[in-house]
Amino acid sequence: MTNEKKHDTALFSLDSNYARLYHSQYLHKDNDAAEAFKKIHKEAMLNRVQFIENYLNQTLLQQEIPSRLSQSMRYSLMAGGKRIRPMLCLSCAKICSEESETQWLSVLPFAAALEMIHTYSLIHDDLPAMDNDDLRRGKPTCHKAYDEGTAILAGDGLLTDAFYYMTSCDLPAKRVLEAVRLTSLAVGSQGMVGGQMLDLEAEGKQITHDELCVLNAKKTGALLRTACESGAVLTGANEKTQKAIAEYGKAIGIAFQIIDDVLDIEGDTKLLGKNVGSDTNNEKSTWVSHMGLDGSKKQAKLYCDEAVQIIEDITDNTHDITKLAEMTFLQKTAHDMAHRVY
Ligand code: IPE
Ligand code: IPE
Ligand code: MG
Ligand code: MG
Ligand code: MG
Repeated sequence: MTNEKKHDTALFSLDSNYARLYHSQYLHKDNDAAEAFKKIHKEAMLNRVQFIENYLNQTLLQQEIPSRLSQSMRYSLMAGGKRIRPMLCLSCAKICSEESETQWLSVLPFAAALEMIHTYSLIHDDLPAMDNDDLRRGKPTCHKAYDEGTAILAGDGLLTDAFYYMTSCDLPAKRVLEAVRLTSLAVGSQGMVGGQMLDLEAEGKQITHDELCVLNAKKTGALLRTACESGAVLTGANEKTQKAIAEYGKAIGIAFQIIDDVLDIEGDTKLLGKNVGSDTNNEKSTWVSHMGLDGSKKQAKLYCDEAVQIIEDITDNTHDITKLAEMTFLQKTAHDMAHRVY
């Protein structure tokens, strides 16, 4: 058996246990099952992250990439990170997979590509011309470890190569095209890049709350939303489910940036892997500068609760326990996100 196959088998048996325990915990109110569920949830998370890490690790190995470029791209891509975007993408794909039990696995190159796009955005975000940060994912930022020119190109390489991986999914072309279209919109000038522009323009200025909401939804919300939505699109979800998943992603996306703003003040550099106080140094317009720490935490919790509720509403119509277990995973992601600041 190849390593990859072994990994798939391990994932499947973990998933069926996950679903079984979910069933006992919630339907039979079994406390022992609840404890076992907690443990297996952790295991399932670690396993899924490892699955993504393994895939990412075998990208960018082509000899045709100039070595300094591939080294700098891999330096940032493989430095860790929570991998939340590909996790969400795979999870949403799994919920929507109708055609076969293994269909969601075909989404993996797309999910990995989202992490490449995210990593590019971080490399550029850290540049002296932007947030001027020295530490990322617990290591010197790309421009510190290499140089600014290399860091710009590492970001360009990751962004562009992501399109190669996104279009390498073994799934119907129409779905892949739609997912690529949505992702381009989410990360381009109308989405993430546009949000980064608004973020730079808002430094040292007073902006309205509505303007801050637009800025956040674009710079961070759009990619998280598309991570969820593309998982649904690629697996052929019906329109109603696709819409609900997109709404979930939108709520998670807004909460994510609010929490990031809070952690920039209250977080621990060791755990975050990046220096705190960056927003204050750059006089950024953030949720905390608008609503204070408590107000921001409350808002984040509201958005996380909204995300949990959206999944609850889809869950009502589902009887497939593997999917129910996956929905629990999405709800737990939202709960855990809120707990990062509570
Ligand atoms: C940080 O993203 C940048 C924002 C969009 C707020 P993450 O918190 O997901 O960073 P990693 O991927 O875990 O390093
Ligand atoms: C970054 O927001 C958003 C993108 C990279 C698109 P931040 O500037 O707040 O992210 P951190 O705090 O540096 O990770
Ligand atoms: Mg920034
Ligand atoms: Mg930054
Ligand atoms: Mg930040």
